Amino acid sequence: MKQPHHSPHLPYSAYLVERRDLSEDTSLFRIAPEADALTELSSFVPGQFVQLSVPGGGEIPISPADLPAAQGTVELCVRRVGHVTELLHKLEPGAQLGLRGPFGCGFPLDDMAGRPVLLLAGGLGIAPLRSLLMHLLRQRERYGDITLMYGAKQPGLMLFREELAALAAAGGMRLYLTVDFAPEQLEGGYSCAIGLLPDLLKGFRFDAANTYAAVCGPPPLYRCLVADLERAGVAAQRILLSLERRMRCGVGRCCHCAIGQKLCCVDGPVFRASDLKGIPEAL
Ligand SMILES: Cc1cc2nc3c(=O)[nH]c(=O)nc-3n(C[C@H](O)[C@H](O)[C@H](O)COP(=O)(O)OP(=O)(O)OC[C@H]3O[C@@H](n4cnc5c(N)ncnc54)[C@H](O)[C@@H]3O)c2cc1C
Ligand code: FES
Repeated sequence: MKQPHHSPHLPYSAYLVERRDLSEDTSLFRIAPEADALTELSSFVPGQFVQLSVPGGGEIPISPADLPAAQGTVELCVRRVGHVTELLHKLEPGAQLGLRGPFGCGFPLDDMAGRPVLLLAGGLGIAPLRSLLMHLLRQRERYGDITLMYGAKQPGLMLFREELAALAAAGGMRLYLTVDFAPEQLEGGYSCAIGLLPDLLKGFRFDAANTYAAVCGPPPLYRCLVADLERAGVAAQRILLSLERRMRCGVGRCCHCAIGQKLCCVDGPVFRASDLKGIPEAL
């Protein structure tokens, strides 16, 4: 798939190294792209996305869950929801894939430096926020307090829970977990509240005037959390939202991903809440 003068529209070749099931419909895919693609991916900022092509299926936008530079692989946490993701979930290690990117605007890491960071993840929203979390922890001294609040429907759908518990136990971050309901005793030595993600925020004491909040989750969560964060004193320009829209070109040419006058693929997918005020369809 490699081209002599590489166009952003053409995927580089890549192959599936490993797949790890995280829940009944969501797996972590470790993918090795060819060397030229890795060079482009070295500029990756958490929150940006890649376009993954699955032969015989098509292309889908995915925000990497991590990009461990030393390993030369990209980690994609993908839920099986339709045609392309079904095909991806059937692949075995060694399978050929295509990858282009990174695209879009990620989290404003330089602005966040020196400040507390509060990550709020609902369901699959943990995927893009995991790459931000890994970055913050790798450069721990560059940031203030790091707190992750993560809500899932039930314990079996809580992704990366052992890994997150281990990271919290190592002391670099505070972790608050919640599930909408818990049908059985929780296993695995982690504790978690029962309730919705916004409930975790209620009564949470933090330095709201300086904090950057990064939010990713199902659409109904955004409006509620933005209001709660603003009420708590976090300014709208420091509330960062990772949005999803259906995409095609990924590079600002087709307008498939329009949000008002903005394009999710180039102006986002990470937006400041202040930039979305006056665009009712954004949230
Ligand atoms: C910037 C960005 C980052 C993303 N990151 C991730 C990620 O880390 N992990 C992950 O599992 N998924 C992620 N997605 C969503 C992923 O792209 C879609 O699930 C995928 O395109 C579905 O393809 P499909 O052919 O399997 O499903 P389809 O057969 O096309 O659709 C199945 C269902 O999913 C819905 N759907 C499809 N695309 C989207 C979309 N872009 N947004 C909302 N709903 C959609 C359809 O309406 C339909 O209900 C991301 C999307 C964007 C735009
Ligand atoms: S996906 Fe084509 S303009 Fe955004």
